[in-house]
Amino acid sequence: MSGLTSVRTTGNKIEILNQLLLPHTTEFIEINTIEEAHDAIKTMKIRGAPAIASLAALSIASHLSRALERSPPPDFLSSSEALEAHINKQLDFLYTARPTAVNLGAAMRRLSRTLQSSLKAGKDARAIAQDLIVEAKKIDAEDVGRNKEMSKWGAEWIVGQVGAMNASTPKVNVMTVCNTGSLATSGYGTALGVITYLHETGRLERAFYTQSTPYHQGSRLTALELKTLKIPSTMLCDSMVGSLFQHHNIHAVVVGADRIARNGDTANKVGTYNAAVLAFRHKIPFIVVAPVSTVDLDIQDGSAIPIEQRPPLEACLVRGALYPTKLNADGIKEQATVMVTPENLDGVYNPSFDVTPAELITAIVTEKGVAVKLAGADAFDLTNVV
Ligand code: MRU
Repeated sequence: MSGLTSVRTTGNKIEILNQLLLPHTTEFIEINTIEEAHDAIKTMKIRGAPAIASLAALSIASHLSRALERSPPPDFLSSSEALEAHINKQLDFLYTARPTAVNLGAAMRRLSRTLQSSLKAGKDARAIAQDLIVEAKKIDAEDVGRNKEMSKWGAEWIVGQVGAMNASTPKVNVMTVCNTGSLATSGYGTALGVITYLHETGRLERAFYTQSTPYHQGSRLTALELKTLKIPSTMLCDSMVGSLFQHHNIHAVVVGADRIARNGDTANKVGTYNAAVLAFRHKIPFIVVAPVSTVDLDIQDGSAIPIEQRPPLEACLVRGALYPTKLNADGIKEQATVMVTPENLDGVYNPSFDVTPAELITAIVTEKGVAVKLAGADAFDLTNVV
């Protein structure tokens, strides 16, 4: 089953699918510089914790590959010291694009470690640049494989739990939040990967997903991914989760993560915490699915996770295609941005993420397996997972 692609590369050329125009327009845009990568991440043309880390890493690889081909070479290739200063500046800059997802910072720190070990080995600037290119491409490439691993772990665990609760349940209904599929990663996805795996193995009855306002990652992106994969699915507004749990037999909630603290507290798309509280009330297993690299052992609990505040205006606007759908002269659905509030509101609260306390989380699934809390404990011990 093949899904959508968030980033594609040919040689040094990087293209990303402009997610601001989805689902109505499929437009790939070229990312030719580190500044363009930074802008694409900040303005959410690309989003999702693993995908932004991949793009940032690939932009370093492309920047260095192009520099190696230039004649005369740029000044920063004149010595290993010049390259060190230049690359550190670029890594620091990319790191500032979005603050909550740990993957971006982790990818930049990983490249910084490669830089330091190549410097220690006494390599010249060109050889160090080659090492950085190899490592940056690895960051992108390794994402798909680990997503498939964690998806299998998560799906098998859900089926096992549901089977233990009710052996006569042949298939499961699973709800998710935001978008965690191939658009948010290098492929297959995390929480959406679990849903895809359940479907591929014939054990999914139906996927439910919230719209995930104000950016609508659910109704614009998850909806498109599920349609593309032909997975039976139902959209709901964020405010309908309680009602869904009251009136439908939902067997599990699966979500992704932007950062997981040492004790299991998890930052994810705003609205995840609401879903977790409701799942707890309804005794529905609540499962976080993310790569090991999303676990930040430097952070003891969720109170230390930096939460990005998006511009107030973003919560006052809805963007989409005109309805009834009209095609413009190029055969593309006409898009519009509509204001749904009075202008210049006195105040707008617009955090991009919230933190779900570990006590509400049943299991944390990574490519290494499924972590659960010890009996009676409110927190996870993730030290051994990383
Ligand atoms: O603001 P976004 O769209 O980047 O937020 C994305 C999420 O919160 C995802 O759930 C998370 O990054 C995990 S993606 C596999």
